[in-house]
Amino acid sequence: MCGIVGYIGSKEAYPILINGLKRLEYRGYDSAGIALLNGDINLYKTKGKVADLEAYVVGKNIKGTIGIGHTRWATHGEPNDVNAHPHFSESKNLAVIHNGIIENYDVIKEKLKNDGVHFRSNTDTEVLIQLIEYIYKHENVDLIKAIQLALGQVIGAYSIVILSKDNPNTIIAARKGSPLVVGIGKDEYFLASDASPIVEHTRDVVYINDEEIAIIRKGEELVLKTIKNQKKTPFIEKLEMDLNALEKEGYDHFMLKEIFEQPRSIRDSIRGRVNLKKDTITMSGIIDFEERFLNARRIIFTAAGTSWHAALVGEYIIEELVKIPVEVEYASEFRYRNPIIDDKDILIAISQSGETADTLAAMRLAKEKGALVYSICNVVGSTIARTSHAGSYTHAGPEIGVASTKAFTSQVTVIFLIALMLAQKKGKISNEKLRKLIIELEKIPSVVEEILQLNDQIKELARIFTYARNFLYLGRGYNFPVALEGALKLKEISYIHAEGYPAAEMKHGPIALIDKKMPVVVIAVDSLIYEKIVSNIQEIKARKGKVIAVVTKGDKTAAALADYVLEIPPTEEILSPLVSVIPLQLLSYHIAVMRDCEIDQPRNLAKSVTVE
Ligand code: AGP
Ligand code: GLU
Repeated sequence: MCGIVGYIGSKEAYPILINGLKRLEYRGYDSAGIALLNGDINLYKTKGKVADLEAYVVGKNIKGTIGIGHTRWATHGEPNDVNAHPHFSESKNLAVIHNGIIENYDVIKEKLKNDGVHFRSNTDTEVLIQLIEYIYKHENVDLIKAIQLALGQVIGAYSIVILSKDNPNTIIAARKGSPLVVGIGKDEYFLASDASPIVEHTRDVVYINDEEIAIIRKGEELVLKTIKNQKKTPFIEKLEMDLNALEKEGYDHFMLKEIFEQPRSIRDSIRGRVNLKKDTITMSGIIDFEERFLNARRIIFTAAGTSWHAALVGEYIIEELVKIPVEVEYASEFRYRNPIIDDKDILIAISQSGETADTLAAMRLAKEKGALVYSICNVVGSTIARTSHAGSYTHAGPEIGVASTKAFTSQVTVIFLIALMLAQKKGKISNEKLRKLIIELEKIPSVVEEILQLNDQIKELARIFTYARNFLYLGRGYNFPVALEGALKLKEISYIHAEGYPAAEMKHGPIALIDKKMPVVVIAVDSLIYEKIVSNIQEIKARKGKVIAVVTKGDKTAAALADYVLEIPPTEEILSPLVSVIPLQLLSYHIAVMRDCEIDQPRNLAKSVTVE
């Protein structure tokens, strides 16, 4: 995962690199480092966050107009000072930052060690820069060629940026599998894992493609080549990103800001796609592939984490409205199990970041097998968006908190719109019902607004359960995935063990866990199976569990049984995940705050999982 930045131009590089790293810190935050080229390469790195790096460099020589920076999420080698990036080659003439994994690092390392190369760290990354230097020295080739040859030998994923003492006006970057963007300014260039560190400097960017090398020289045009030395023409795109969206804007944490942004982000996901006068939905990505969608034998959703939960909601929605069979697969499982999928199937990949390695691999596999691959992504221009045949953006705006919140509600919104469009085209929905659902959908942002007013009540609830050791989350039907999502939110930011279950499954095992200390969050909003979930609450109460029920306003039965009640306004059942998830997001947020946890950067996690 990790974030990488680079700068070459005539300004001082250090402040640009540090600010860039702060923007990218959500991607990894166990150690950080920079290298500046100013005659020599001055390299500073330390365990900890970007703020620790800033403290570490005080009083050191940070001059230079060319530099690279890294914030790490360790895969190989514990997070310590030595394993932090950048890494030097043995001679210290080259320095590299890397995002990804070099899978065959051990074989290469052994070989280089046998040839007398000395290693300083335990990382896979160092192996790559040592290999480049080894080839550069021994094969009588220039640095670009040495990089090309080395990259030809490595297996795995990378985006790398290299500084070279012998090439004082140059930065060389390459990618395969991990993201890399070049920003083009006036006589200056910026590099980063995503556009967020670049947007305040320039809006002109080039997304580097897999197996491409960018050779960036001060005062010269950007040169793109493939690893096999084919020349490529850079395709310059314009960034559309609101700078304010990258700031906390008065909230204590990005996560809280993003929870509170949901009325707007849901509205933005709907905007421009619904025509109430004509009772139509237009998802432009679908139009070119309409026939394939309408004749699809099956839709397979693939994703990870929260996006996978949105996919599960999608299964319920699409089967109900469109009547096409749907399967939901963890991308990490799908990619390795030789799935049966062909040109009659459609794979829909869901991803906030658009960079999740497993999701990307699942898409590539489905493509090879002839399926149409559609993406639902939040990050414009991301690899997943660009790898799909077509797709829909969620338009939720940048999500920076590691715990995904507004991305989930936007993903569900987009899936719902896709389902409505397909249902209409397939003649599976009457115009009346379509209109009713659109009207209900358009009300969701204000319903969310109302639910956000429960914030203080939820804070009180969080106080009661701050020190709980375990939590159960139960839901049925459309709200079963919401139970999974509530449990994931609590686990990842408060480190409390939590499990989500379909409520009726409880009696097949988890009920054994229930005693008077066990908080059980039950989503018991109005639904066709409301009575069933009431019985499930009875079963918990009979065993003295503490029930926190999310119910529809005016509810009597579930509310009377529960120990604590959170009332939310009524919605159509099919839309209820968009609203029932909000109190669960707030509950996990407040519990984590009270436990003094790192909200936006929980331990061991990173926002965008670009490694397997
Ligand atoms: C969500 O809170 C998690 N941080 C994580 O599960 C996330 O949803 C998952 O890694 C998928 O990411 P993506 O949507 O960017 O592909
Ligand atoms: N594999 C490298 C390391 O462990 C980079 C990790 C990453 O991309 O997060 O340092």
